[in-house]
Amino acid sequence: MAESTFDVVVIGGGPGGYVCAIRAAQLGFKVACVEKRGTLGGTCLNVGCIPSKALLAASEKFEEAAHGLAKFGIKVGGVELDLPGMQAHKDKVVKDNVTGIEFLFKKNKIAWLKGAGKITAANTVEVEGVGAITASKAIVIATGSDVTPLPGIAIDEKRVVSSTGALSLPEVPKHLVVIGGGVIGLELGSVWGRLGAKVTVVEYLDRVLPTMDNELSKQAQRIFAKQGMDFKLSTKVTGASVTGTGVSLTVEPAAGGAAQTIEADTVLVAIGRRPYTEGLGLEAVGVELERGRVKIDGHFQTNVPGIYAIGDVVEGPMLAHKAEEEGVALAEQLAGQKSHVNHDLVPGVVYTWPEVAAVGKTEEQLKAAGVAYKAGKFPFTANGRARAGGNTDGFVKILSDAATDQVLGVHMIGPNVSEMIGELVLAMEFSASAEDVARTCHAHPTLSEAVKEAALAVDGRPLHI
Ligand code: FAD
Ligand code: NAI
Repeated sequence: MAESTFDVVVIGGGPGGYVCAIRAAQLGFKVACVEKRGTLGGTCLNVGCIPSKALLAASEKFEEAAHGLAKFGIKVGGVELDLPGMQAHKDKVVKDNVTGIEFLFKKNKIAWLKGAGKITAANTVEVEGVGAITASKAIVIATGSDVTPLPGIAIDEKRVVSSTGALSLPEVPKHLVVIGGGVIGLELGSVWGRLGAKVTVVEYLDRVLPTMDNELSKQAQRIFAKQGMDFKLSTKVTGASVTGTGVSLTVEPAAGGAAQTIEADTVLVAIGRRPYTEGLGLEAVGVELERGRVKIDGHFQTNVPGIYAIGDVVEGPMLAHKAEEEGVALAEQLAGQKSHVNHDLVPGVVYTWPEVAAVGKTEEQLKAAGVAYKAGKFPFTANGRARAGGNTDGFVKILSDAATDQVLGVHMIGPNVSEMIGELVLAMEFSASAEDVARTCHAHPTLSEAVKEAALAVDGRPLHI
């Protein structure tokens, strides 16, 4: 190997790690990124955000072609699913994205060290098959997360799959049971439901998307139920046995009660993800963990000077954009800049149809904190553009401080809200009031007029309801 000393050595080439590497290189550091997967991009590009969105997009088109065009006066016959073709689309999207990161590494002169990295001292990383690498300025742990297993239910990625297996099923299951009504369960449940599977979601708590605003998760559940998803809430899975043709699941009420058996062709375990630090050597160098996550201070530094951590492996939502923001902020801090991440304003999006998007506080959080707030809500049924596109399910809800009118939270379900949430994140970054949003001119006819109307509704003066 030509080089063995770098300024910054990043372990993990996911959105946290690769973005940190690029920004550090832009700032003049000599950077290496250690990645043991055969490709760059981490969970997100290889088995997460990108392949799931490729399948969501493709399955949306299939569903629309098969069932959704008649209302527009378009007759389509003989719509057929070509699952290998759809998987090929997904694989190509992944390949184009991961090779894109390789290109960016070359452009920024970042060394990709291919192998597993283990920290052997505060400034040394031993890379499998490569050797000892010295980091003169910083080691950045960006090793991400992995699937949380469900005790007693072994994932074989055939009949019982994690999200990774669910992205590559060789055929559409007749009955897919999803354990966990969170983001993965609803997104991948939607994919296979659209392609023809009966989908049953078994959720331990009494609502899906339990961390989101209650009204939002209730509305999401109603809409997905209307689409054909079956929900077993407040239900726990107590056992699973793989049979010749599928899986026999035993479930019972979370509070206890009579057991029931559900027969499935495929079971998707999606009960969350956990930080991944296996084989990193953290114990030996004394890096402290807190509930499994690498413990950091306000500047991403662990308890060992010179060793930093970002992304899914540290506290906060396990989201790619959160990891990226942390990667940039850390690189800039290493260069002496005063960069920071506003962890209060990390948007969360569920890419189902309709989409779900939120930022800031939920009504439940505001109530629990004793904050007096006003709420303004506007339904997409009253939005002309939504009607034109035949997408009237959902609403925009804006919560603002009762005294100052500052926007404290925004919760949306509806068409393209994944794109619309950005406007509100920006507004909140600038401490906007609901009145500021209400007085901002929004183009007509656009879905984003629902945002303006919800802001007007905060003050009881919506124009179109
Ligand atoms: P990761 O992306 O997990 O990257 C860590 C990398 O480190 C991996 O490539 C791993 O191989 C490598 N690594 C680990 N240990 C070592 C070692 N010792 N040596 C060398 N390399 C190592 N988030 C969103 O924001 N939007 C979405 O739409 C979205 N969709 C998702 C869909 C699915 C199905 C899943 C599973 C996740 C999704 N996520 C989404 C979450 C997102 O993927 C993660 O938040 C993001 O990837 C975290 O980035 P990271 O850099 O912290 O870690
Ligand atoms: P999640 O945390 O979103 O949802 C897990 C769900 O499983 C919760 O509703 C929880 O109450 C439930 N649950 C937990 N234990 C259970 C049990 N024993 N039985 C039944 N239900 C149980 O986790 P998920 O969906 O696995 O996704 C993991 C992470 O990946 C997400 O938290 C998110 O950070 C990231 N992700 C983000 C996406 C996005 O941004 N669009 C898409 C997919 C994943």
